[in-house]
Amino acid sequence: MEGERASRLPVIGMIGAGAVASALAPALAAAGYPVRAVWSRHAERAAALVACLPSCHAVDTPQAVVDQAAVVFLAVPDDAIELVCTALRWTPAHAVVHCSGALGRAPLAAAEAAGAQTGVFHPLQSFAGGSVPLAGVSIAIEAPEPLATTLVQMAQAIGGQPLRLTSADWPRYHVAAVFASNYVVSSVAIAVQLLQHVGLSPDESLARLLPLLRSTVDNLARIGLPDALTGPIARGDQQTLRRHLAVLADEPLAREAYLALAKATIPVAEARATGQPERLAAVAAVRAFLEAAAREEQADAGDRR
Ligand SMILES: NC(=O)c1ccc[n+]([C@@H]2O[C@H](COP(=O)([O-])OP(=O)(O)OC[C@H]3O[C@@H](n4cnc5c(N)ncnc54)[C@H](OP(=O)(O)O)[C@@H]3O)[C@@H](O)[C@H]2O)c1
Repeated sequence: MEGERASRLPVIGMIGAGAVASALAPALAAAGYPVRAVWSRHAERAAALVACLPSCHAVDTPQAVVDQAAVVFLAVPDDAIELVCTALRWTPAHAVVHCSGALGRAPLAAAEAAGAQTGVFHPLQSFAGGSVPLAGVSIAIEAPEPLATTLVQMAQAIGGQPLRLTSADWPRYHVAAVFASNYVVSSVAIAVQLLQHVGLSPDESLARLLPLLRSTVDNLARIGLPDALTGPIARGDQQTLRRHLAVLADEPLAREAYLALAKATIPVAEARATGQPERLAAVAAVRAFLEAAAREEQADAGDRR
């Protein structure tokens, strides 16, 4: 039975052996997909990846991957997807898929023109090298049928949660991912910088911030939005905000980010205060205070011009 299923699964080829390919290829192989060929610009990276895959070999050219596979993943940087795709020879027997959450299927137009099916397979996960879990991870998919069904089955086989998107969905979807991942990292970078002023090294700061970060994520998982919001805006502590902005007077970038995020926090705090008139009034006062601070900021910028 298992052998029958395996023989029905498409042969997979991987162009690129970076962070995403190094997580995806082993997961697909472990789910029974025949991952047969890997190419990377640096041969040693392809060799390192195939070493952990059964019956897979590193090849010398990206065309050799295409020639051996039915579904080819272009796991290369966003800016290289179209270039790589356009340089290869495709046939109607091929499906070609990239892993970017920002682009839709447009960069694969050359393969489509040659009759290949094209699709997107974007794991909503952060890959920074090493083994990355895919179980429970959303995998956004756009493709025409029958490729869409193939990719949905692939996502399910590696434990992911498929999410079907249309071409119009990608920009908003990707902005959401940037907020939930990249801007958390940049917020932590600002926090680390501020903690230098209390005498902590960047490493110490990060180590001390991680439990806070973990408990925030745990609270989001346990009680969700808006209840996971804590802090001065949730409490309506206007004087605390005033002190924060004062201390950021010499940190223009951090101050700007603080104000923008504070503004975005107000609707969450309002939702959290639903049914608590005193709390709602305090949050409304914070809103008015922030609007006044933003107006002052704009006036100062105008004076400087
Ligand atoms: N990293 C993430 O968290 C993440 C999450 C979801 C989706 N994605 C998407 O997954 C895709 C791959 O990202 P990644 O993080 O795996 O990238 P990566 O770690 O930088 O790996 C990129 C791979 O592409 C190769 N490459 C680089 N430039 C190339 C070029 N001009 N022509 C041909 N090959 C080239 C690299 O080869 P060499 O190393 O041998 O030079 C490497 O094998 C991107 O579309 C990205 O948006 C990334």
